[in-house]
Amino acid sequence: MDTAAATELKPRQPPAPELRPHAGAAHPIVISVKNLRKEYTTGRGRLTLFDGLSFDIVLGEMLAIVGQSGAGKSTLLHMLGALDTPSAGDVYCASTQLRSLNARQAAAFRNREVGYVWQFHYLLPEFTALENVAMPLLARGESKVRAFKAAEQWLNEVELGARVTHRAGELSGGEQQRVSIARALIGNPKVLLADEPTGDLDSLTAEMVFNLISRLHREHHLTSVIVTHNQALARRCTRILRLEKGCLNEVAPLAV
Ligand SMILES: Nc1ncnc2c1ncn2[C@@H]1O[C@H](COP(=O)(O)OP(=O)(O)O)[C@@H](O)[C@H]1O
Ligand SMILES: [Mg+2]
Repeated sequence: MDTAAATELKPRQPPAPELRPHAGAAHPIVISVKNLRKEYTTGRGRLTLFDGLSFDIVLGEMLAIVGQSGAGKSTLLHMLGALDTPSAGDVYCASTQLRSLNARQAAAFRNREVGYVWQFHYLLPEFTALENVAMPLLARGESKVRAFKAAEQWLNEVELGARVTHRAGELSGGEQQRVSIARALIGNPKVLLADEPTGDLDSLTAEMVFNLISRLHREHHLTSVIVTHNQALARRCTRILRLEKGCLNEVAPLAV
């Protein structure tokens, strides 16, 4: 994955006009992708994942992105969340033109505006659930007292109040994913990006984790993008896009 170091150094700009609500639209656009291109140069030549990709995601949407393995879903999600840089084109997320951020601004953007959930939770196994959840607040300079208090509230919110002092490595897969959801949301982001968040879980636990994401999405007025292979869960999102041969096509729930 590219790092923010590759981000162009340009002064921060005011929100793009594209991010104003459409006249008459019920919801403002939270994520806007304009003419996005991503290519990798590999030993076997140039691999173009997409070229000219454009789409918008409005406030409150819970968008599912589906598609075959290797289609570029993770790469796209990384670019929405300033974890990777496009080869060309623009991503606007939470009123920010990502191309305009320098490395330090991109780090602050990731810390404040976006919550990330991965298939593999990437918790620090030797640290407690409480410490793991508190990390984003500690990283932005909050006091330990405030960060741990908020982390305890978030662990209660994901129904893990009884596991606060457990080390992450001692928790079950579903519990670890719930901790990682609390860690993603403790910073009060506007956007939740989840890359196959139930991909490593059994079906019952997957259902429970998806229900939790759904509830938190609604209660915290999030705009969420969820990459998933799970068709039943994709159907429960507000919209489904399939990434295929570099294009994103809307699919009817029953066609997933
Ligand atoms: N850093 C990289 N360099 C070269 N190719 C890459 C790199 N990252 C991903 N790819 C390739 O891009 C394609 C899409 O990857 P990915 O976004 O992970 O797909 P998906 O999440 O849909 O399975 C894959 O063929 C992968 O091998
Ligand atoms: Mg992937």
